[in-house]
Amino acid sequence: PQPRPLAGKRILITAGPTHEPIDPVRYIANRSSGKQGFAIAAAAQAAGADVILVSGPVDLDDPSGVTVKHVESARDMLQQVEASLPADIAIFAAAVADWRVANAGEQKLKKTGSGMPPLQLVENPDILATISKLGEKRPPLVIGFAAETEHLIDNARAKLARKGCDWIVANDVSPATGVMGGDRNTVHLLTRDGADINVDSWPVMTKEQVATELVARIASTVEK
Ligand code: C5P
Repeated sequence: PQPRPLAGKRILITAGPTHEPIDPVRYIANRSSGKQGFAIAAAAQAAGADVILVSGPVDLDDPSGVTVKHVESARDMLQQVEASLPADIAIFAAAVADWRVANAGEQKLKKTGSGMPPLQLVENPDILATISKLGEKRPPLVIGFAAETEHLIDNARAKLARKGCDWIVANDVSPATGVMGGDRNTVHLLTRDGADINVDSWPVMTKEQVATELVARIASTVEK
């Protein structure tokens, strides 16, 4: 039988993009496929964890043995994440839209002949930062992602501090890498070590391999 190092642990994972409505038929989105978050959910389930996956709109099958909650917008995602606590470990792999449309139309917007409708954007809640800063309900291990197109490690270090999480998985998502929507990923794992930050750079791997490695690191940390 497979080893189940995460048996008895409850892991909450976010994945995919969010869709932010402009009107009933249009939305703002991004290129996230959800593959990395879904792979982590499957790997955590295989390691024996009790997994809750909160996913934005994706074109992927629900991983078997995982509780999946499907959401649309960032605000829905935050609500489902909060409702899914407590958890031992939380992994925020979703590419949450930073902004939503404040003046989304209740009816389909029409061309008027007098110019384009102005879209007013307001900031979405930061789910990772919100959960990292919770008091007693904060999961003991909170992991975020940093998808960057430049200054990867510096931006990831700053993000670790700003968001208040414990680990950051940093990845380069420049178009040339093919990471967004692709099957491979090159990641750097930043972990806090007291006041210091350790950086482990992993070779290019499939998203499944990244998931397996990450779950192995979690399992060895949880055991300590
Ligand atoms: O600030 P940035 O979007 O680059 O941070 C990325 C990390 O924060 C990811 O772990 C992502 O899932 C999380 N995040 C979030 N809610 C947001 C924005 C980002 O949970 N509104």
